[in-house]
Amino acid sequence: MKIQTDVNLKPYNSFGISQSAAHFAEVENLEDLKQALSYGEEHFLSVHILGQGSNTLFIQDYPGLLIHMACLGIERFEDSGIVKAACGENWHQFVEYCLKNNLHGIENLALIPGTIGAAPIQNIGAYGVELEQLVLGVEVFNRETATVEVLSREQCEFSYRDSIFKSGAKNKYVVLSLALQLNASPVVHTDYAALKQQLTGVEEPGPRDVFEAVCSIRQTKLPDPSALGNAGSFFKNPLISQDKFSSLSSEYPDIPCFDSGEEGLLKVPAAWFIEKAGWKGRRKGDAGVHEQHALVLVNYGEASGEDILLLAQDISNSVLQSFGIALQPEVNFV
Ligand code: EPU
Repeated sequence: MKIQTDVNLKPYNSFGISQSAAHFAEVENLEDLKQALSYGEEHFLSVHILGQGSNTLFIQDYPGLLIHMACLGIERFEDSGIVKAACGENWHQFVEYCLKNNLHGIENLALIPGTIGAAPIQNIGAYGVELEQLVLGVEVFNRETATVEVLSREQCEFSYRDSIFKSGAKNKYVVLSLALQLNASPVVHTDYAALKQQLTGVEEPGPRDVFEAVCSIRQTKLPDPSALGNAGSFFKNPLISQDKFSSLSSEYPDIPCFDSGEEGLLKVPAAWFIEKAGWKGRRKGDAGVHEQHALVLVNYGEASGEDILLLAQDISNSVLQSFGIALQPEVNFV
């Protein structure tokens, strides 16, 4: 494994931002990872672990060591429905692998950009399925003890777009692989309103129908990062109290809300607040709010990380002023 210096990060983030990393390592196995971490320690460098950079905004040149996780491999265990994939595997290709190999329950998560390693960190979710429902265990490298461990679903402390990897044990673990318990026989989850609507007319939809419907919704609504730089949802959907919701809905009767899964709290789409505050489709230089989906910030070409950040701050301030709601970013700033 070779350590490179002054590497342009444009190919390593889905916003297509041109910042650089002072030191850069491509890691293909555990040995590479140990070597890279030792190099970081010996040179007193801060270390950042990166998958495909699809949920990352580089707001400056990174002065330390950026480790790109590129470990590959997928293993399935007979007909148990259990499947294990290495951290560098592409998430969507893994979903396709599962569909082809009769491993079901994951189709709703098709076309989410990113890698296997990032999926449990972010606790990805879409169209009625959250990753945490499927997790059997996460194999990690513990940087404090320099040992490999397997964390159970409970130990991962999953909640909405959150996990121990982002909060309680930030920077302690490097995800090596993910084991999921899927179903060897077909199961489908079709309750999410937009998905149900997309499947209208399909009698008894099967896993492939769900997979295709999800791909089709995402392709219509969300920009393809290879064509237009973006990192999916830029903010989390806020969870608000029933009282706050009642006062907002008396002023805005069209305000949507969804069950949050947490007692006394409702989930209101951040996209609704952003659109209502007049930001949908707006542009400041090359940083903009997507025309089809207000929750997605895009790079029209040469935006810097700071341009995107400033736009996000303007949006947050405006939503706070208009509705008294503080939006939290979903994207990680590096
Ligand atoms: N909406 C607007 N304006 C818009 C877009 C949406 O008002 O421009 C409102 C509509 O009321 C719509 C509602 O927002 O019904 C929900 O929209 P959508 O179904 O697109 O979902 P979302 O809440 O915006 C979340 C996830 C997405 C995931 C979708 C589908 C978060 C932060 N985002 O978005 O995940 O694909 O649900 O399940 O939870 C991601 O995390 O990067 C991501 C794309």
